[in-house]
Amino acid sequence: MLHGKKIILGITGGIAAYKSAFLVRLFVKAGAEVQVVMTPSAKEFITPVTLSALTGKPVVSEFFTANTGSWNSHVDLGLWADAMVIAPATACTIAKMATGVADNMLVTTYLSMKAPVFVAPAMDLDMMNHPSTKHNLDLLHSYGNHIIEPAVGELASHLVGKGRMEEPENIVKALDDFFSSCRDLAGRKVLVTAGPTYEKIDPVRFIGNYSSGKMGFSIAEECAARGAEVILVSGPVSLTCHNSAVKRIDVESAAQMLDAAVGEFSGCDAAVMCAAVADYCVANQASHKIKRETDDVPVIHLQKNKDIAATLGASKRQGQVLVGFALETDNEIDNAVAKLRRKNLDFIVLNSLRDPDAGFISDTNKVTVIRSTGEKLPFATKPKSLVAKDIVDIIVHDYLNEK
Ligand code: C5P
Repeated sequence: MLHGKKIILGITGGIAAYKSAFLVRLFVKAGAEVQVVMTPSAKEFITPVTLSALTGKPVVSEFFTANTGSWNSHVDLGLWADAMVIAPATACTIAKMATGVADNMLVTTYLSMKAPVFVAPAMDLDMMNHPSTKHNLDLLHSYGNHIIEPAVGELASHLVGKGRMEEPENIVKALDDFFSSCRDLAGRKVLVTAGPTYEKIDPVRFIGNYSSGKMGFSIAEECAARGAEVILVSGPVSLTCHNSAVKRIDVESAAQMLDAAVGEFSGCDAAVMCAAVADYCVANQASHKIKRETDDVPVIHLQKNKDIAATLGASKRQGQVLVGFALETDNEIDNAVAKLRRKNLDFIVLNSLRDPDAGFISDTNKVTVIRSTGEKLPFATKPKSLVAKDIVDIIVHDYLNEK
């Protein structure tokens, strides 16, 4: 379950930091990619050299790399990770996390984290028992963090009680169990269309559009990460999909995309139509390259392409979920609602070209989901990977697993 997962391991200055090397080994053995972020005092207990050798990545500890002046971006780390684990977590770091005292790279990274956070406290039993520690752990829990309770046993002080950092094997198991429970699309099949279509004018020229395919690929990756078998029908894009649960069918024209989508839809539980499909194709395609020197100025006759989403919408079975996108420049809500109805969608994801953070090429998107009931759910500007998560959450929780 941890294969391919990106994990930030935060290490703080407690004696249990010596166990962090074992923890890194176990994560790496399970196929995870690990980035260590250490507090300055953690380096008194274990060296960054050991950890960078085990992870294959330089350890991050300072805000700036002194000799180059380069900046370590906690924001990028927060976006990169699938999970953050703080092990060992001292009373001091727990208190800083609880109150937002961002005076080191670890707490700053924690505050920027978009992924789930796991905290494995390690301290002496009296510190562990102190009302302030208990209160801070309650606060962290209330923020949605996962507390990996410390074990009872002999402590570094030779006292016996609760405060030993949980064994690395059990910390790995806690994450493994978490990711297994996130596979809420296991056994489901999802069809995604992505990218532009190209409509040939002659053998070397086409009519296309600026779609990058990023939104559709993010949705396909998100569904696959949650256990779905994914059929990704993609127009011409320069993207790769790394998850082997994604079966990619490359097409060029809208007609080819229609054939592929119609062929797959009946076996699917959900379909997300992200592709920017050309509305028209060229009726008088030339079989040879049109030449400036010998041919007349060409007149291109267009004919309507079939609407793939509407075709699927017309054959939609009870229980199948169909989602469309609307990229609008004006009268956004009314246009999106009209499309939702015409195509028999369950919901439509509206993004406006008037919004500078949304649209074709950008890595971010700002969307409003409109359900067939008319309900509107506006979302903040986010990276497309997180927009994908929001959309897939709605598909899973409000449609596929509807009570
Ligand atoms: O009508 P419009 O092209 O704006 O609708 C956009 C939505 O319909 C998107 O979900 C797009 O993937 C889908 N669509 C389609 N086939 C077409 C045109 C649009 O599936 N021929």
